[in-house]
Amino acid sequence: MTGMGANTITENSNRVQWDNQGPFWLFGYGSLIFKADFPYLEKRVAYIQGWERRFWQGSHDHRGTEEAPGRVVTLTEVDQAVCYGMAYRIVPDILEHLDYREKNGYLRFETTLVFSDHTRDRGLVYIATPDNQAFLGPATEAEIARQISRSAGPSGRNRDYLIELAAALRSISVDDAHVFEIERQCN
Ligand code: BEZ
Repeated sequence: MTGMGANTITENSNRVQWDNQGPFWLFGYGSLIFKADFPYLEKRVAYIQGWERRFWQGSHDHRGTEEAPGRVVTLTEVDQAVCYGMAYRIVPDILEHLDYREKNGYLRFETTLVFSDHTRDRGLVYIATPDNQAFLGPATEAEIARQISRSAGPSGRNRDYLIELAAALRSISVDDAHVFEIERQCN
């Protein structure tokens, strides 16, 4: 993958073509779980394999500022890992809205979703990879909690994002040690 600028709208519109087809699954693992601000045909709990949710992406446009970025989740590749989230069945028109909403480094990837009844289907997931300008990468959970507790941006307090994500994960019975430990330390 080539180095990415902060704005991924053009790059996303040129990636895997999802636009000229019928409804398909979008996998949400972060704010898409608790903030689905788009129409969808159906939603189902699902997981994807080979990825872990981590608070490694900087946010200067939603939960922080240029001077003091917050932290939001992205996915990092880990063999054998499983990441649970919420799948939404959407029509392609919705992608334009999502590409704009997630323009700060997130790219579209194709993935395989596994549902509770063990059926599978292909779908799309947005991931902020380490080569994007806003990527912050690993830090201890205590450091991440400190950064989140003092950050806020146009979409609100970073702490509220964390609390809403943790609550949404609990509501679908997902145990995420990383997210829950940061929540515990964020006071
Ligand atoms: C998600 O919940 O899947 C998500 C949210 C923001 C950016 C990218 C993905």
